[in-house]
Amino acid sequence: MSLKTYITRLSFIAFLLVSFLSLPNHAFSQADELPTSEEAIANGEELFNGNCAVCHQVQNKMVGPALKNVYERRDIPWLIGFIKNSQKVIQSGDEYAVNLYNEYGKTVMPSFSYFADEEIKNILGYIKYQTDNPPQAATADAATADGEAATAGGGGIPSEYLTIIIVGFVIVLVLILIVLVLIVTVLTRFINQKEDIDDRDKEYVNQKVNFNQLVRSNGFLFFVIFIFTAIVAKTVIDGLYTVGVQQGYQPTQPIAFSHEIHAGQYEIECQYCHTGVMISKSANIPSANICMNCHSAIKTESKEIAKIYKAIDYNPETGEYGDNVKPIEWVRVHNLPDLAYFNHSQHVNVGEIECQTCHGPIEEMAVVKQWNTLTMGWCINCHRETKVNAKGNAYYDDLVKAHDGGDLKVVDIGGLECSKCHY
Ligand code: HEC
Ligand code: HEC
Ligand code: HEC
Ligand code: HEC
Ligand code: HEC
Ligand code: HEC
Repeated sequence: MSLKTYITRLSFIAFLLVSFLSLPNHAFSQADELPTSEEAIANGEELFNGNCAVCHQVQNKMVGPALKNVYERRDIPWLIGFIKNSQKVIQSGDEYAVNLYNEYGKTVMPSFSYFADEEIKNILGYIKYQTDNPPQAATADAATADGEAATAGGGGIPSEYLTIIIVGFVIVLVLILIVLVLIVTVLTRFINQKEDIDDRDKEYVNQKVNFNQLVRSNGFLFFVIFIFTAIVAKTVIDGLYTVGVQQGYQPTQPIAFSHEIHAGQYEIECQYCHTGVMISKSANIPSANICMNCHSAIKTESKEIAKIYKAIDYNPETGEYGDNVKPIEWVRVHNLPDLAYFNHSQHVNVGEIECQTCHGPIEEMAVVKQWNTLTMGWCINCHRETKVNAKGNAYYDDLVKAHDGGDLKVVDIGGLECSKCHY
């Protein structure tokens, strides 16, 4: 065989190999069609957050499936058709769509027929971008989700462990006591057997503690009275300090709404329901309309959800609304007296304080309870200790300079002035 034919054959085989290896990318996926420009992805992100994020995440399953790689599972025209009107695709008998629909408990995904094809491609472009560049937080979330129970409650030692440690400690103490008693017994016996010890020493070794005498002594009486008075005084003082303090208050709500399910398991943003929290004084309790964004389709058979339908006079069978509307009577949990002024946007938006700092791990609560004391001392302490979030806020520039670029605490901007918190 000449060298030339040899090379030709070799390159032909190489060509076959290369095209075979790249086949999956070219023949089955049209992901290349998706826009990759920054502008398109930003537009996709906005549309995704505004319309889809309620039910979908890219990395994790939520109300709907995780959308990563979805452009490889289905082709682009199918996806566009499905997003525009998923029910139409399902009713057409498309096997994949019907299976998915059943898998997700027949949850109806709303139709987005008003989107242009370009806009849907932008959303898919954003999903592809997120698939290829998973955000750090998402991977960290996924990692901790497995070990969730172990780390729940943040830092510190979880209380179960604390109990175990204390029990272990007590057991060790008892063991030490037993060993000591054994040593004393052995030593006493040993000394008693010795002949060359005089009687006084023997008496000393064998003397018993006289409990009767001890209990009757003045010292003991004084000790008992002191402990008793101290406990009573502490209880009374604690009681006085907590008059009107509702820490731990956990009323039963008219509908068994659970933050553990909504904010925890399904990771719905707090702001999705508490719409005022970034922009106003009050965080707002969501109206039933917000619940209906999902519960017109989710868990329609539940007794608890039926209470929402009743409140807005909605008939789930016909999908019609009547006019016998009564608001849901949620029981208020947190309530400052009228003399105090508290503003959410000031703390959450400007101060960038997490909800959990003040409200505790709401996303783990099946029933909300008041986590902190909400006393004046609580507000003031935090204002003394917390730095103002002055970064990128020109309003504070001069003040930061006046503090030599050092700590600018809330107290330094007048956070302890009576009139800031009192009308
Ligand atoms: C009310 C909740 C809800 C909203 C809002 C929603 N979806 Fe869905 N989506 C679902 C559910 C549930 C499914 C599973 C199929 C079904 O039950 O119809 C699904 C399925 C999908 C699928 C198919 C996934 C797969 O694994 O093949 C895609 C793609 C999709 N949604 C995209 C979107 C996009 C894009 C948006 C926003 C424009 C959106 N969805 C908004 C609930 C929702
Ligand atoms: C799906 C909607 C929804 C989401 C998401 C949600 N909440 Fe709520 N939240 C409610 C409803 C409804 C109530 C009133 C019933 C109750 O107290 O359980 C409420 C009550 C509260 C209360 C007590 C209000 C009072 O009466 O003083 C706090 C505090 C709160 N939510 C914080 C949060 C935080 C923090 C998050 C995010 C981690 C969050 N919520 C997410 C719907 C929601
Ligand atoms: C973004 C979507 C979404 C919104 C908004 C929403 N929910 Fe839900 N809700 C869910 C999901 C998902 C479940 C869990 C369904 C399951 O367990 O299969 C659920 C479960 C429930 C349940 C438990 C039902 C049962 O019987 O297991 C109640 C009660 C409930 N929601 C009440 C509410 C109320 C009240 C609101 C409005 C303040 C609300 N939800 C808003 C998605 C939502
Ligand atoms: C600096 C502490 C602090 C932070 C941070 C905070 N809250 Fe509050 N929240 C309060 C106090 C105090 C009240 C009681 C207000 C009152 O009675 O006027 C309250 C009340 C509420 C209520 C009851 C309704 C209302 O507005 O009075 C809801 C709901 C609520 N918070 C949700 C949230 C959510 C969601 C976040 C995070 C986005 C958040 N809070 C962050 C301190 C805080
Ligand atoms: C977790 C810490 C924390 C708690 C608790 C807290 N605050 Fe604040 N507060 C802040 C921070 C931080 C700021 C500064 C926000 C900024 O302007 O950057 C602030 C600012 C304020 C201001 C504006 C001060 C000014 O000079 O502009 C008022 C008023 C206020 N808080 C009232 C309250 C009240 C009332 C409570 C108790 C019910 C409270 N705060 C509890 C951290 C806290
Ligand atoms: C950071 C906010 C804040 C500042 C600053 C502040 N207070 Fe208060 N104050 C509160 C809150 C919140 C309450 C309600 C607490 C409660 O109900 O336990 C309160 C309650 C009170 C009460 C009523 C106590 C009661 O039991 O009804 C008095 C009186 C009072 N404050 C006086 C003052 C005076 C005087 C100053 C200035 C030296 C001041 N406060 C500064 C937040 C503040």
